[in-house]
Amino acid sequence: MQHPSVEQGQRIPRHVAIVMDGNGRWAKRRFMPRIFGHKHGVDALVRTVQACADRGIEYLTVFAFSSENWKRPTDEVSGLMSLVLVAVSKYLTKLEKEGVRIRIIGDRAAVSERVRAAWQQAENATAHNTRITLSVAFNYGGRWDILQACQRALALGLRPEELDEVRLSQLMAMGHAPDPDLFIRTGGEVRISNFLLWQVAYSELVFSDCLWPEFGEAQLDAALRDYASRERRFGGVPDAQPQALRA
Ligand code: FPP
Repeated sequence: MQHPSVEQGQRIPRHVAIVMDGNGRWAKRRFMPRIFGHKHGVDALVRTVQACADRGIEYLTVFAFSSENWKRPTDEVSGLMSLVLVAVSKYLTKLEKEGVRIRIIGDRAAVSERVRAAWQQAENATAHNTRITLSVAFNYGGRWDILQACQRALALGLRPEELDEVRLSQLMAMGHAPDPDLFIRTGGEVRISNFLLWQVAYSELVFSDCLWPEFGEAQLDAALRDYASRERRFGGVPDAQPQALRA
């Protein structure tokens, strides 16, 4: 059934990608440490997964920890790592019951054994779900992703003429999903920050001043209305279809 906030005939994106920015500022305004903002950021994320699933969005991909976030103060980095363990133990059962399939994208080699195990547990417990796929980018960078896909192509012994956009896309971390139709960034900054560089080539971009812990259904619906009003051309004529890269 169509969600009440979605108008009859409104175009809904299959895949939404979000840079969840503004946790630190949200906490600072409350005279609290930055990790307090990240904790509330997890709650906002769980609300958003639910809201996206309710509106028929099939894929949600979020930037939780970038390859560059290691440069943050050590207490914030270790706080974010601990938050993974807390978030998995607090929300995994709920997300599993709601039909969410969880995928982690990013370089797992640099994270601790405990964090790796928590991510593995989240992926294993939800692998059978089909309602919505939540991909969490953790120790992820768009340049890293392009590089690791090229490295995999070389390791597979592909000849130059065997490598094309479709094959490279399949070797990238988001090989399990179509490219994002809608890219949202909260927190007021207007940049991509090395998120899904290859995959956002034709995404519609929406930037919001809302700080991530305050993101909810109203902000999602505003972004969806903005998306529905855009004319997508994919470099061609109005109503052109994207080049079919993946299912
Ligand atoms: C950017 O806000 C946010 C992050 C670097 C982390 C995002 C993480 C979460 C929302 C929690 C999700 C975590 C898990 C375990 C799934 P910022 O700190 O850069 O905020 P600022 O721009 O106001 O300083």
